[in-house]
Amino acid sequence: MQDKVKQAGEVDVSIVSENANWTFDVPPAEFERHIERSIPFYRGGHDLVAQLSDFFLPENAVVYDIGTTTGAIPRKILSRHPEKIFHTTGIDVVASMIAYAAAETPDPRASFVCGNALEYEFEKSNFIVLYYTLQFIHPSVRISLLEKIYDSLHWGGGLVIFEKVRAPDARFQDYMTQLYTEFKLANNFSPDQILNKERSLKGILEPFSQRGNLTLLEEAGFSDIMTVFKHICFEGWLAIK
Ligand SMILES: C[S@@+](CC[C@H](N)C(=O)[O-])C[C@H]1O[C@@H](n2cnc3c(N)ncnc32)[C@H](O)[C@@H]1O
Repeated sequence: MQDKVKQAGEVDVSIVSENANWTFDVPPAEFERHIERSIPFYRGGHDLVAQLSDFFLPENAVVYDIGTTTGAIPRKILSRHPEKIFHTTGIDVVASMIAYAAAETPDPRASFVCGNALEYEFEKSNFIVLYYTLQFIHPSVRISLLEKIYDSLHWGGGLVIFEKVRAPDARFQDYMTQLYTEFKLANNFSPDQILNKERSLKGILEPFSQRGNLTLLEEAGFSDIMTVFKHICFEGWLAIK
């Protein structure tokens, strides 16, 4: 299927590996091309995260971007605040992405760590970002990560979390699936690519509903939470400790 799609001149199936398993260990430029076409307002969401950081950067603030991939979010935050003294750490399990993120971010205020966020020892922090990352963490341990984040944040610190979400019932889910399929077709994904990607993500990308995500955030300790982004089946929240 991949060859056929490539002959048709439609790029970006390589994020699905030859044996149809999902992988983030792909060339960074391919990742960016793919995700921009897959997630509505992907770049606009980065801008929103950077704007929200304005409220959480006291002197010497500590910022984490969990599942940083190419490091785009730390770069956005750093370039928005060129004079401020703070430190960003991008964490990801994919070594090649961390190497790329570090090379693309020659700012002494930035560091990148290759590791599993579930095992990472977070310092006390002011601002943490989970941008389409929690959905790739196994449901059974999502709460552990959110609890670690809650513990890490100073009182008044902020967590921004963006996720693909399931709709509250079957009818809404049906409508949203159709709208999202139209979005992908309009972005030049072929029906084969759409199907292939859905298959490869089985058991890997597991979205919760809005209610499911809010319950997790509340169980982790957050009570001040608001939606900052919503489009079809994609949602972002700001949670303040
Ligand atoms: C959809 S991508 C995130 C996109 C990225 N935040 C951006 O703005 O472009 C999800 C990322 O989470 C990473 N990831 C998944 N599980 C992780 C874990 N347990 N610890 C750290 N990173 C993880 C993946 O390797 C992948 O790079």
